[in-house]
Amino acid sequence: MSKYEKQSIKKYDELAANYDNTFDGKFTAKFKVKILELCEVADGERVLDVGCGNGSLIFAISQKADIEAYGIDISPKMIDECKAQYEGINFEVTNGERLPFEDESLDNVIICCSLHHLDNPLQFIAEAKRVLKQGGTLIIGEPWFPIGIKQFCDWILFPLMKSGDNKTFTHKRLKRIISDGGFDISKVHKKGSIQIVTAKRL
Ligand SMILES: C[S@@+](CC[C@H](N)C(=O)[O-])C[C@H]1O[C@@H](n2cnc3c(N)ncnc32)[C@H](O)[C@@H]1O
Repeated sequence: MSKYEKQSIKKYDELAANYDNTFDGKFTAKFKVKILELCEVADGERVLDVGCGNGSLIFAISQKADIEAYGIDISPKMIDECKAQYEGINFEVTNGERLPFEDESLDNVIICCSLHHLDNPLQFIAEAKRVLKQGGTLIIGEPWFPIGIKQFCDWILFPLMKSGDNKTFTHKRLKRIISDGGFDISKVHKKGSIQIVTAKRL
């Protein structure tokens, strides 16, 4: 297990019971509102939220249509919270770098503020490509910081805090890894610290 995985499990297990009132819960709230707006789902579709936290986003998405909803997270306590709160959604403790789904079996994959926690984000992109149907949608929400703040967070703050955060993404790099991973970018939303890219699997 990588140091980011170990640190994330420790941190989010501790935050799980009161997540919405923590800094992370409040910081991610605006991302989730925007992703909910951008995420188009139809009856019968299969939708996965990777790094789903306490499950509030995938639950909200599941209210938009009669979908088969899935949430995975590396933190067992987060998944306990999901299961206690929401019925009818399939939650599982899993690493987002190895998605427990068959090839071309999902219509939508969402990842909100969790990509920069992964040891190998490119592995997640490859997995999202593998499990999505052709034309399926990937939505990635990630924090964006001006370069000085980004460098401070990536190289000083995150290692000091042992928070499970790997490197954050510049806008250019986020778009490049998505395109290079076999996706066609269809929408880009960027406002303040929020960057959200919607892409179709080629
Ligand atoms: C900042 S929180 C975001 C949670 C949720 N997506 C939200 O927006 O509220 C990051 C989440 O990613 C999860 N996580 C970290 N590393 C992971 C990994 N390798 N695989 C799956 N989930 C992971 C954490 O446990 C945590 O719940």
